[in-house]
Parts: sequence; C-alpha cells; structure tokens
Amino acid sequence: MATPHPDLADAPLLRAARGRPVRRVPVWFMRQAGRSLPEYRALRGEGSILDAIRDPALAAEITLQPVRRYGVDAAILFSDIVVPAAAIGFGVDVTPGVGPAVSTPFRTKADLDRLRPFEPEIDAPYVAETVRLVVDALGATPLIGFAGAPFTVASYLIEGRPSRTYGRTKAMMHGEPALWHQLLDRLADMAIASLLAQVEAGASAIQLFDSWAGSLSPDVYQELVMPASAKVLAALEATGVPRIHFGVGTGELLTLMGDAGADVVGVDWRVPLDVARSRVPGKAVQGNLDPAVCLAPWDVVADRTRDVLRRNGGRPGHIFNLGHGVLPELDPGVLARVVDLVHEEGHSDGG
Ligand code: CP3
Repeated sequence: MATPHPDLADAPLLRAARGRPVRRVPVWFMRQAGRSLPEYRALRGEGSILDAIRDPALAAEITLQPVRRYGVDAAILFSDIVVPAAAIGFGVDVTPGVGPAVSTPFRTKADLDRLRPFEPEIDAPYVAETVRLVVDALGATPLIGFAGAPFTVASYLIEGRPSRTYGRTKAMMHGEPALWHQLLDRLADMAIASLLAQVEAGASAIQLFDSWAGSLSPDVYQELVMPASAKVLAALEATGVPRIHFGVGTGELLTLMGDAGADVVGVDWRVPLDVARSRVPGKAVQGNLDPAVCLAPWDVVADRTRDVLRRNGGRPGHIFNLGHGVLPELDPGVLARVVDLVHEEGHSDGG
C-alpha cells in the first residue's frame, strides 16, 4: 500500500468517526460520484458500470471527481456492492437506471456451489489498484472503502433484480433458515475479503451498506441478519479503521446496527438526528439531509442543512451526509453550497 499521508490520521472524517472533536464537521455524500456530475457522464459513456469499475485509471478518476468539485472530506471508492459476486462469476450485471440484475437468481441449495470464496487479488485485482491510485492522489483526504452487507446482497441474488417487497428473500429466510444462514455466511466472507483488501490497499474507513435492511422488523433483523453483519464488522476490528454501518428506513434498527459492531451509524432522513443519536449512545452518527430536499430552492436546503447541524448540537461524532444517495437530477452546485455551509457553521466542542 502507499505510505499514508502524515496528516491523514487527523482528517476530520476520521476524527469524527472516532468521536473526537473537530474544527469543522466533515461532510461527504453517498453516490457523490455519479450521474449528477456532467464530468461523470462525459467519462462514463454508455458501457456497463462494471466495465468502468474494472478500469483502474477510469475508476480512480471518477472517484476523485466529486472531491475536486465539492471539496468533500472523503472520497468513496467508485465500485458497486455486486462487484465481488460478479467477479466470481455469479452472473450479475447492473442495468442503468434500474440496478443489479442477476441472470440466474439464487433459489436452492445447489446455488451455493456458484458462490465460491472471493479472492480479491485474483478475482478483482483492479479494485486494489484503483484504491492505490486514489489514495496516492488524495493525500490527507480519506478514502472510504465499502461492501454490501450480506442481507442486501442476498436480496439482489435471490430476487434477481431490485424488489419492493423482498418476497422471495423473506420466503427463504423464514422458510429455509439453514440455507439462509449458509448463504449469508458466504456473503459475509465475501464482504470481509473485499473490505480487508481495500483497507490493505489504503482505504482508511469502510462503510457496510445494508441499504434494504429497513424492510425488516427488529426481531427478524436481530435473529436472521445481524449475526452475519456482525461477523463482517468484527473481522475489520483489527485493522483499526472506522466502520460505518448504513441502511435506509432503519429507524427501528439503529441500536441493533450499532451493536452489530459499528463505530458510526448511518441515518436516513426519517429519524431526526438528535433522536438517532439517542438510539446509538457512545457511537458516532452519519447523516441525514433528505436528498430530495436538495431539489428545493436554496433557502430551504440551507434551512434543512442547519436543522441537521442544530440537532447534533455541536457534539463530537457527527459526519454530515445525505440520508441516502445523491439524486441524478440534482444540480451539483447545490451540493457544493451544502459543503460550504457545513464547513462554515458545523463544529464540535473542543475542536
Ligand atoms: O459515489 C458513490 O457512492 C460511489 C459508488 C457507488 C456505486 N454504487 C456506484 C453506482 C456505491 C457506494 C454503490 C453502492 C451500491 N450499489 C448500493 C448501496 C448504496 C445505496 O444506494 O443504498 C446499492 C444498493 C447498489 C446497487 C445499485 N447499483 C443500484 C441500486 C444502482 C442504481 C441504478 C441506477 O442506475 O440508478 C446501481 C448502479 C450504480 N452504482 C450507479 C453508480 C454511480 C449508477 C449507474 C451508472 O452510472 O452506470
């Protein structure tokens, strides 16, 4: 890996993730690299996102674009949660405007044979190469590596495409718990291998995306999902990098998602940030401006941004973000102003 920049350990994002005071609240945006940026659209062209991810020079440049444009406090690796499954040949692609598509979904025990262990340096060496290029270019700005959590990746492999109900996924989870646990365990190992390789190559924080966990009740989450995510987060502990754990609509799961082994719990816009903080005592939080609010006039955006900061109330351990990804139709100029506002007005005591 590249030699870490001497100031990296003091980066506001890493300090906030560890609950330390900061002079300015760090901010980055989920899906900051993407179709809202004209420079992204110009570079990406028409091909599959998976082809772009397999090209380290291109993927590194796309990762850096939002850092240059917005002055955000972190980059997030340009990749996707289905990259490891695609790399071992499970038969996954990503349909533009829709999301992951699986040609032959996971339905029976026999499908376990299609999920061999993921070996990052053999199956997807381009990921570590991209990380190295990005980390060299970023200097004192952290790179966040990421993986899909076992439940969310399982939902794509089982449904075969994005789903509103997760019907087949829930049918398997409740109807065939032994198979479900085997599947989740393999996906946990896949996420672990992927995250460790990213950290080894130089990522200085990681985010585990359990985007669709909010479709579950707390008892079901705790029994059938949390153990696999906890295995992933525990496996990262020894690396010492902060672990962010995020899902959409997870207000009722925040405490459990923290207990799964996160240092930072990501919060969507449905739970006010002060309430979210009370559900994850002792942990940092990340969020939680509604991405759709950013389509409203600037005064409204500024007002809602200040509301997030006010609800945090200057406490250490806040990373500003949206409650979910940037909407493709958003004017990037608005996000640049949000970054400036958070940097001007956000602080935490003692920093
Ligand atoms: O800037 C970043 O956030 C970094 C890159 C990133 C992508 N996917 C690139 C991408 C990250 C962190 C992801 C994670 C991801 N992928 C998640 C978890 C985050 C979340 O949104 O909850 C999920 C659920 C996926 C699966 C996936 N991939 C979906 C649902 C889609 C959307 C389909 C679409 O076209 O809108 C994708 C495609 C995708 N992944 C795009 C990008 C920039 C857009 C398509 C493209 O440019 O080809």
